[in-house]
Amino acid sequence: MNRREALIARVIAGYRAAYGADPAQLFAAPGRVNLIGEHVDYNDGFVLPCAIDRETIVALGESEKARFEAVALDMGAGARDSFVLDAPAGRIDGDWQNHVRGVVHFIQAGGHGVRPARIAVAGDVPIGAGLSSSASFGVATALAVSEHSGLALTPAQIARIAQAAENDFVGCACGIMDQMASAASTAGAALLLDCRSLETRAVPIHPRLAITVIDSGIRRQLTTSAFNERRAQCEAAAQHFGVAALRDLDAAELEAGRGGMDETLHARARHVVSEIGRVAPFAAALASGDAAALARLLEAGHRSLAGDFGVSLPALDQLAAEVQSALGDAGGVRLTGAGFGGCLVAVSDAAAAPAIAAAVEGHNREAENPARIAAFRPAAGAARISC
Ligand code: GLA
Repeated sequence: MNRREALIARVIAGYRAAYGADPAQLFAAPGRVNLIGEHVDYNDGFVLPCAIDRETIVALGESEKARFEAVALDMGAGARDSFVLDAPAGRIDGDWQNHVRGVVHFIQAGGHGVRPARIAVAGDVPIGAGLSSSASFGVATALAVSEHSGLALTPAQIARIAQAAENDFVGCACGIMDQMASAASTAGAALLLDCRSLETRAVPIHPRLAITVIDSGIRRQLTTSAFNERRAQCEAAAQHFGVAALRDLDAAELEAGRGGMDETLHARARHVVSEIGRVAPFAAALASGDAAALARLLEAGHRSLAGDFGVSLPALDQLAAEVQSALGDAGGVRLTGAGFGGCLVAVSDAAAAPAIAAAVEGHNREAENPARIAAFRPAAGAARISC
């Protein structure tokens, strides 16, 4: 039984145990690793994530009651929710429940009818590692509800609904990157996404290259408040410059207009502007297999996230420096995702894999939290799968 078959077996067994019947349909949505373009999506910029072969699966069946019922198999015993569909489903004191309620709410708010259903949800995207387990949960649920209700929403509509649920029901002011990566990726490629227009382009990954995710072993803490604070700082900086979003600034304008600006806000804006500038050259280097260019861009990206944006930790900087020095020109490494823990991503010549492994091993001899290399393949976006 492969990874997906085992997950499908688990979700079907969980559905049967919860509802005493078989599900009628299955839907899957992947997590993602972001290669470059960090903390840029909510500034309307460009990002380059890649969906991974770890996912959330929703098993769905009809409900005879005029209700929506859900069970979350990874959230402990008794993790169930149930709400009526003919009155607004409000937020409750919970987390995963609000993804489900928010998705149903925003589909209804778009003028669509939601058919009663029962769902069971399970996933194998590591939680709290910066690999978007939440977005995959939201996107899988939104796709399941949309298809079951006969709506045929587009991947961008699905992504927007899952993002709105996370923003307004879960309370995290996340951008659109994770949900778009989960909804719209193509197998074997990274997804170049314009976060303003939501235009996408699949960027092939040169066969000479490998993407390695290194889980630092440090789980994120207090991310929601720190994340929302970073977003507010970016919006304040954009307001200072009189632009709709930091995407509308270049490096020269950023320096010319800094007068009277708080140092921290300026540094936050400098990260966003410099990071957006790294995305197009990175996409070109990824497609052509230019490991030395990737090394420069990833190293600069990490420095900017740690210094200007302030979302790294000393232990992450240390791990990144050790891996980068082992790689040299053969590739680069940086913090990926929101920060404050989670994973690093390395993009390198495939032949450099042993150097990465040796650096991580060396790090673990001294480190409080052992790091772990995880092998993922670039996966396709959300889809209905067969039972
Ligand atoms: C989290 C958010 C995304 C994005 C990243 C940082 O994953 O959910 O929208 O802002 O952080 O790039």
